[in-house]
Amino acid sequence: MNVCVIGTGYVGLVTGAVFADLGNDVICVDNDKEKITRLKKGVMPIYEPGLEEMVQRNVSDNRLRFTTDIAEAVKKSEVIFIAVGTPPKENGETDLSYIEAVAKEIARSIDRYKIIVNKSTVPVGTGDFVRNIIQTNKQRDVDFDVVSNPEFLREGSAISDSLYPERIVIGAPNQNVAMALLELYAPLERPMLITDVESAEMIKYASNAFLAMKISFVNFIADICEKAGADITQVVKGMGYDSRIGSAFLQAGLGFGGSCFPKDTLSLIQTGRKFHEPPALLEAVIAINEARISGFVRRIEKRLNPLSGKVIGILGLAFKPNTDDMRDAKSLEIIALLRNKGVTLKVYDPIAMDNAKSLLGDAVAYCRNAYETAHGADAVVVVTDWNEFKLLNLDKLKQEMKQPIIFDGRNIYSPERMKKMGFEYISIGRR
Ligand code: UDX
Repeated sequence: MNVCVIGTGYVGLVTGAVFADLGNDVICVDNDKEKITRLKKGVMPIYEPGLEEMVQRNVSDNRLRFTTDIAEAVKKSEVIFIAVGTPPKENGETDLSYIEAVAKEIARSIDRYKIIVNKSTVPVGTGDFVRNIIQTNKQRDVDFDVVSNPEFLREGSAISDSLYPERIVIGAPNQNVAMALLELYAPLERPMLITDVESAEMIKYASNAFLAMKISFVNFIADICEKAGADITQVVKGMGYDSRIGSAFLQAGLGFGGSCFPKDTLSLIQTGRKFHEPPALLEAVIAINEARISGFVRRIEKRLNPLSGKVIGILGLAFKPNTDDMRDAKSLEIIALLRNKGVTLKVYDPIAMDNAKSLLGDAVAYCRNAYETAHGADAVVVVTDWNEFKLLNLDKLKQEMKQPIIFDGRNIYSPERMKKMGFEYISIGRR
């Protein structure tokens, strides 16, 4: 099938590469000329395991190409995926201006029947919005359909999530249109749900907000555990055995960050308000999440008081492991608060150092590894749960430190082991 994907961010680029890998002819479009020039040279704009190899393979097999020419891409394709950014506005509503601009461009170039698929995360009703824009701006008398096909991939495992999705959701106006998408996804042999456009749009937000709710819930329970002398890791183990609850996404820590959960939860709050449904539950999810870092820094301060003049090593800068993404990363909040209190910060991340440098400049000292980060430190703080940190030589780390205090925001070590090794170990929701 001839397919084009508009937008070469996480979702667009991975989707384009995967569709090409399944044997389709794919054109990836972006209006960022530099990004396209770099992609043509094989330089990826993001770090994502397996992506570069997949792109290279399909480019050299002539199934995948990159362009800034949206009109040409639209004309050559039967199915057009929209995968542009949908950032939050000041009030938490979703900014649809990129979607609107793309819909207008499609309207200008559409020359025969096409299926336009919304892959970007967009509030319920956006399918209609896109349909109206194309209908009113199209320059030829051609028919088209608008489909919602939300993406559930996670950064860091985007390729495998796209090749082995737990479900594929297709929100289509009728069965024929759904069949075309079904055909595109059939080689994956994964469960598919065919539904209407509005329900598909809601599935995405409901899923992300539910997962965010799980995380805030477990963080609330963790705070009680800490005070009551219970152990959150034991509590979630006991909860997870109940198949109605499940054990996934119950890891207590510094809260959720990244480009999706915070913004999608805020957007669903706005949707609730729009339809006069009180969003108190989701407001609590956000409030708990927003209080995580100030609470954690208070604990650091209580132990190291006064903070001024202290040296702290930060392990992990990316918002989660296996990505270089720093959007809504907890490290940024922690670093800002500690710097305000006069702390000297040394930082290290296995992959996100370049992105961190562009955001943090000379506010922190950049280290080459965890041991260098710990050197001369009054404490080390684990912010991102990279595997590399789980496998550290902790004796060596301890020798580097001025005093062996570890604040673990992700519960990656066992408290008993840390105690035996002579660390003062402060983690989340555990004694
Ligand atoms: C998420 C959804 O998982 C994905 O389906 C959707 O398409 C996009 O949003 P992503 O933002 O890449 O994916 O990361 P995810 O792995 O879901 O983690 C989100 C945040 O939650 C991270 O900050 C992570 O550290 C945190 N988290 C996750 C927890 O604090 N505890 C957990 O148990 C799980």
